[in-house]
Amino acid sequence: MAQHAYGIDIGTSNFKIFSVANKKMINEKNVIAIKNKKEIYSFGDPAFEMYEKAPANIDVSYPVKFGVIADIKNMGTLFECFLQKLNGQNNGGDFCIAVPTDITEVEKRAFYDLIAESKVKSKHICVVEKPIADAVGVGLDVESPKGKLIIDIGSDTTEISVISLGGIVLSKIIKTGGHKLDDTICNIVRKKHNLIIGSKTAEQLKINLADAINSSDATHVAYGRNIVTGLPAMQDISSELVYQAIQECLHSIMDSVKMILERTPPELSADIIEAGCYLTGGSALIHNIDALITKETGLKVNICDAPSEAVIRGLAEIISNDKLHGLTFVPREKQYND
Ligand SMILES: Nc1ncnc2c1ncn2[C@@H]1O[C@H](COP(=O)(O)OP(=O)(O)OP(=O)(O)O)[C@@H](O)[C@H]1O
Ligand SMILES: [Mg+2]
Repeated sequence: MAQHAYGIDIGTSNFKIFSVANKKMINEKNVIAIKNKKEIYSFGDPAFEMYEKAPANIDVSYPVKFGVIADIKNMGTLFECFLQKLNGQNNGGDFCIAVPTDITEVEKRAFYDLIAESKVKSKHICVVEKPIADAVGVGLDVESPKGKLIIDIGSDTTEISVISLGGIVLSKIIKTGGHKLDDTICNIVRKKHNLIIGSKTAEQLKINLADAINSSDATHVAYGRNIVTGLPAMQDISSELVYQAIQECLHSIMDSVKMILERTPPELSADIIEAGCYLTGGSALIHNIDALITKETGLKVNICDAPSEAVIRGLAEIISNDKLHGLTFVPREKQYND
């Protein structure tokens, strides 16, 4: 690819973009704040600070839902803003975007069209299946005939895939991830303590207290509004309560992992038993989630550093290394019978 090449991972929670020219990466919240329905008020991490805090004339939103682009217009604007921030200018180049595997061709094409139809001049646009980028990002030789099981637990989605010979053998995306865990924590705190908390507070409780197989004596303070009195209130939340909240979601992820394992051809299963599975995505940082996977499946679990950046590291490698260009493709155009 050209010197001005960029890798882009458009996550539900975080937008990651890498530039080959200056080896710079941005990883910020995929959030936009629009004032009075037309003016860009803020984007990225500063816009996230305003989430659930903004007055009625400022609309703060996430344009990606469950791994697919839900709001093309705002996503296009965010892409241009992030590219400008990375480069200091909006000059074009070549773009390589990671796309989930288990979505429709039309949804895949939407990632391509987002760049093609933006104000940025693009020379060449291609996509890479996310599990392939994940595998390259954790340092695996994706083109070898060895089977690899990749579990990417992100924000709105968990994508479980078996890959071999540079291609996807099986892949399933489920609508469960860190975000759903935050929701279940909000719900249980409301039920148990009559306390309404925001999603950022729930995320902090998860980061500080969540453990996939144990609870401890730890507690963490949460601020919110009491349902009964209507007044602001604080409450110590126990690790036990958070543990109870997240059980169902974690077990639905485990069920999907087992389902993929049941469908995996036996020769590839043998490779997976030998190497273990690879856990990526920001929610891989939930304490003891590796131990839960081992308990439920018997597999060894490998977690890389900064698991939320595995996809963008993989894209950086793919666009920088000519030998890996065969992993990229151009999604087909929308057909009338789609
Ligand atoms: N230390 C931590 N413990 C638990 N969860 C964490 C931690 N750090 C980040 N997370 C969670 O990781 C998620 C973000 O991960 P990631 O960046 O992989 O998502 P994404 O790529 O934006 O989403 P998706 O792939 O589903 O579209 C959030 O739900 C966040 O709460
Ligand atoms: Mg992701």
